[in-house]
Amino acid sequence: MNMSLVEYERRGSVAVLTVNNPPVNAMSPGVPRGICEGIARASRDREVDAVVLVGAGRGFIAGADIRYFSLPWPEGEENFSDVIRAFEDSSKPVVAAIHGHALGGGLEVAMACHYRVVSPGTRVGQPEVKLGFPPGAGGTQRLPRLAGVAAALDMIVTGSPVTAPQAVELGIADSLIEDDFVEGACRFAEQRARSGGPHRLARDLPVNLDDPAIFDAMRGKIARRARGMRAPYACIECVEAAVNLDFDAGIAEERRIFEACVHSDESKALRHVFFAERAAGKIPGIDKSTPLREIASAGVVGAGTMGGGIAMNFANAGIPVTIVERNSEALERGMAVISRNYGASVSRGRMSEEAHDRAMALITPSIAMEDLADADVIIEAVFEEMAVKKAVFAEIDRVARPDAILTSNTSYLNIDDIAAAMPDRHGRVLGTHFFSPANVMRLLEVVRTANVSAENLATVMALARRMGKLPIVAGVCHGFIGNRMLEGYFGEASLMVEEGIAPERIDRVMFEFGMAMGPLAVMDLAGLDIGWSKRKDAGGGTAIERRGSWIANRLCEQGRFGQKTGRGYYIYEKGSRTPTPDAEIDDLMEAARHHFGLGPPDLSDAQILERCLYPLVNIGATILAEGHALRASDIDLVYINGYGFPAWRGGPMHWAGNVGLDRIHEAVCRYHRELGFPQWAPSSLLKELASSSRTFEDHDRDHRHA
Ligand code: CAA
Repeated sequence: MNMSLVEYERRGSVAVLTVNNPPVNAMSPGVPRGICEGIARASRDREVDAVVLVGAGRGFIAGADIRYFSLPWPEGEENFSDVIRAFEDSSKPVVAAIHGHALGGGLEVAMACHYRVVSPGTRVGQPEVKLGFPPGAGGTQRLPRLAGVAAALDMIVTGSPVTAPQAVELGIADSLIEDDFVEGACRFAEQRARSGGPHRLARDLPVNLDDPAIFDAMRGKIARRARGMRAPYACIECVEAAVNLDFDAGIAEERRIFEACVHSDESKALRHVFFAERAAGKIPGIDKSTPLREIASAGVVGAGTMGGGIAMNFANAGIPVTIVERNSEALERGMAVISRNYGASVSRGRMSEEAHDRAMALITPSIAMEDLADADVIIEAVFEEMAVKKAVFAEIDRVARPDAILTSNTSYLNIDDIAAAMPDRHGRVLGTHFFSPANVMRLLEVVRTANVSAENLATVMALARRMGKLPIVAGVCHGFIGNRMLEGYFGEASLMVEEGIAPERIDRVMFEFGMAMGPLAVMDLAGLDIGWSKRKDAGGGTAIERRGSWIANRLCEQGRFGQKTGRGYYIYEKGSRTPTPDAEIDDLMEAARHHFGLGPPDLSDAQILERCLYPLVNIGATILAEGHALRASDIDLVYINGYGFPAWRGGPMHWAGNVGLDRIHEAVCRYHRELGFPQWAPSSLLKELASSSRTFEDHDRDHRHA
């Protein structure tokens, strides 16, 4: 046996098999073999009456080794089926002793044992759907037999884990062991061995279904969220098989469906996202030895929508935060919004009254900048204008501790300029671009200024994770990663409306692709007036009348700023967020075509898609080549978590690999010739990868950061 992966130890009459495959005890090659050999040895050992299977380190088993879904499994090496067969053939009871986590194949291994015990704080679940396939080692057949069909269906389709007490209550686990876990598990195993059995296996339990309508009900429930996806429906079909077929036929059906899903583009994309999220935390110049500063108190300047949301993030993470506004009216308004947001969470049952009171007690409103004097970190979240921000930072500079970390919540501005105004704070100024609503959205662009120290950058990354965010490092450039790319996406959408393609058609194409919302509906949500005032400031006179802004300008002149005024590219009924197409837009499109001398509209849905998405890929490649994103997979995460790009397509850069970079490059060059707008200036990196038949993932592999 490979002693380093599965250790064998005898404790009294119990053989303890310890899976020791750091960091998470995935079922990599060698682990199944180790378990099978341990079971065989225990069955030969006359002194042994029972077996306990346990994980070393932080948890039990985190499932299959996900890397092997795209690698060949070594010839002749044991696998999940061999492990499960070994348990089922064992005459001595096998107890899975689960601490930390048992996920995916980890829970499946546990469910194939005769018994399961859990330690407090453990979570068990079948998260496979998040990787684009249903459980493939019997989970969809055993879980309904242990937990009941409704609970199993819910766990498998959502991928959400349950806690240790829930696992006991549902019948997934037989007992909760409070202390001295492995010893307790051994005592449990001894007792069961002494009882003489029968040691029932999950496969022999009946499947009880009270309400056959739950499957269709589940299909209805997930219809919007699972739009375009296969795996959630595959999960439902597998559980249906548990109800309709006998155990062995159900297992065969699960295997068939699993195999069909695991090689799909959807699964490849979701696996890419899984590893992308882990890679995003790896930053050149920062490693485990980089010291982290303690963040025990925080300050936020600005109690508007963003400032309020940011303050809520601190409070939710248990960090006391002082929120400062210029005057009491603005402060009271901001605090009322915070209170209303928390109140809504309580009334929806997402937050307890106690948690609400705790969070509110952590937020101190103030109109005195001096109240930020003790804060470890201060986030500026005032109006997005350089002069305003610089004035606020001058104030912060006056009061903040010399070692405080200062960040600006900006979506476009040059934070190096802000930092340069405070030379004494060298290394402690950076950007934190939150997404609206800041208390909900998972993405945080952490903008690395020229002089920020590794320690302060690492501290802000860790703080973001403590807030439940997914922090992505971006470089200082106009719009950073997300908004810089968005200019190309919105730009093309606006141009196409001028060419006579109706907003609802563009939005439909993008919604069907899987975007959470179409671009014109998003522009209405964000407010058309923001771009309008920027254009007026920047261009003045006719310069703002270039193509791409002509219709938006006309709309703004009519006071149609989007959702907030009930009209924009669409009409919104009072109190409704549902966009309704507006016949007046047809007239504006006609006028725009006349104004610019354009021919009749002539674009297919496929061309609309290209015009929207290829600029994302092209600009993303430029950002990557400039080093303003560390890796293409970071760009994917930005788009998935901040801009509604479907995770099951893997983000724009991964998706581009499926389309073919040569095809995209060729189209970018063509659009550059025909249309000529800046978003089409071909990226040299896109050209280089296309001509060498490589993908952005190949590029990331070649430039891997430690
Ligand atoms: N396979 C391979 N590598 C894995 C892995 C897995 N199942 N789970 C985690 N890892 C790796 C991560 O990539 C990461 O590697 P690096 O350090 O090189 O980046 C490392 O383990 C640590 O992972 P996390 O950073 O995620 O650690 P964490 O402590 O925050 O979380 C965890 C631990 C809860 C187990 C989390 O890693 C997780 O959710 N893992 C995936 C669980 C899962 O999806 N299991 C199902 C697998 S599919 C399956 O089992 C199919 C089947 O039906 C047979």
